[in-house]
Amino acid sequence: MCDLEKLVIRGGKPLIGEIEISGAKNAAVAILPATLLAKGEFIIDNLPNISDIDATLDILRHLGAEITRLGKHTVRINTMGVTNKPIPEFLACKLRASYYFLGALLGRFGSARVAMPGGCNFGGVRPIDLHIKGFNALGATVGTDGEYVVAQTTASTLMGNTVFLDKPSVGATINVILAAVGAKGITVIENAAKEPHIVDIANFLNRMGAEVRCAGTERITIIGGLPMKGCEHIIIPDQIETGTYMTLAAATRGQLTLKNITSPHLDKITAKLRECGATVIPEEVDSSEQITVSASGRLKCCDIKAEAHPGFPTDMQPQFTALLSICEGTSMVTDSVWDNRFKYTDQLTKMGAQIKVSGNTACIQGTNELTGASVFANDLRAGAALIIAALAAKGTTTIGNISYIDRGYEDIVEKLSAVGADIQRVEFPDVPPVSNIQKVE
Ligand code: EPZ
Repeated sequence: MCDLEKLVIRGGKPLIGEIEISGAKNAAVAILPATLLAKGEFIIDNLPNISDIDATLDILRHLGAEITRLGKHTVRINTMGVTNKPIPEFLACKLRASYYFLGALLGRFGSARVAMPGGCNFGGVRPIDLHIKGFNALGATVGTDGEYVVAQTTASTLMGNTVFLDKPSVGATINVILAAVGAKGITVIENAAKEPHIVDIANFLNRMGAEVRCAGTERITIIGGLPMKGCEHIIIPDQIETGTYMTLAAATRGQLTLKNITSPHLDKITAKLRECGATVIPEEVDSSEQITVSASGRLKCCDIKAEAHPGFPTDMQPQFTALLSICEGTSMVTDSVWDNRFKYTDQLTKMGAQIKVSGNTACIQGTNELTGASVFANDLRAGAALIIAALAAKGTTTIGNISYIDRGYEDIVEKLSAVGADIQRVEFPDVPPVSNIQKVE
């Protein structure tokens, strides 16, 4: 990836103020494809204004849905004119969640052709074998044909069945739910993922007329084949955006109040910040929830085990590692979800962090302070971790590959500037002008 834009950050200042949290990316990228399961009109509110949402809406338009922007965070979707068409690579490759169109098209039409998904690369192929296992259980064959993953029901319609997921995969859980809604009969998903966005997609489908029971537990039951219609829905607040800014408040020894949040989704992040010595105060103001995080002086180290919900979220692992880099003492961070999600630590090391990685565990020796450097993001949450480190560091940091960050954080420069961050989005021509390139004889 060769972005021409970089972030230039001058760190070392406490961040103080309020930040409005946007809608949850990982709920929205599943709910938008789910609209294909009915012919009707939808109003979806609290959509985050990020590139992953733009990419998902482009795929819906490609399939014939009519999309009308009613505001920065609100769209009207009319799926009356939707037809089942292959989703080409140039659309599917922009995000990992394009694979939800497999489950949605399979559930609506009994077949789907979707080019392989894109998304953050943690140093290895991100498998979809559990998605395929679920589709097979419902009576669909799944194969590849060039750039496409092709799913096709073998009978006239999908049939409900029991699906055991070997791992509580978020994507596989959601994809099986989407297909099972269109299947005849009852589907039970065992060892289902329990993340907040699973509950939000289930609530959305139930508003459409589906019956998805016990989402948020390890056993989800779906009564398939029910009549489905359009509906209205407000996306839940983004747990990971909130956790990122909570961690940033602690790292800069400032005080941030995050507004429009759901505090039960933040329990593990709150617990670990308190263990480090930060103050975390959730409260309800005018019937909406907010949470205030503050810290002063040197924070203490703590150990983290990132795991499936309700454990500490893996999508918060990089950001918290950045904080632990300047906490007193030695911290151990283990990621039991992704085998190789520590590539970003090389970039933190350039800033003076003392981190040793072995397998899926990082040992962090806290240092007094970090120093600004030129670094680059190798995925979305790695980019967020570098922003935290840069704002806590002394001196100036430039961060490259920031299109990763724009995939998941709405208006991050504006939100941070409003609480005192010295941060700018600057165009850096990475490639020298052609005239400077010497001809090699
Ligand atoms: C979702 O990815 C999120 N992405 C990821 O967040 C998040 O890290 C992950 O869930 C875990 O919470 C979206 O929701 C768009 P998984 P997903 O299937 O669904 C293995 C972010 O930063 N697995 O729960 O792809 C897999 O290798 C992104 O917002 C299989 O083995 O994750 C991993 O070890 C990054 N076979 C584990 O399960 C499969 O078929 C969990 O993966 C599927 C997954």
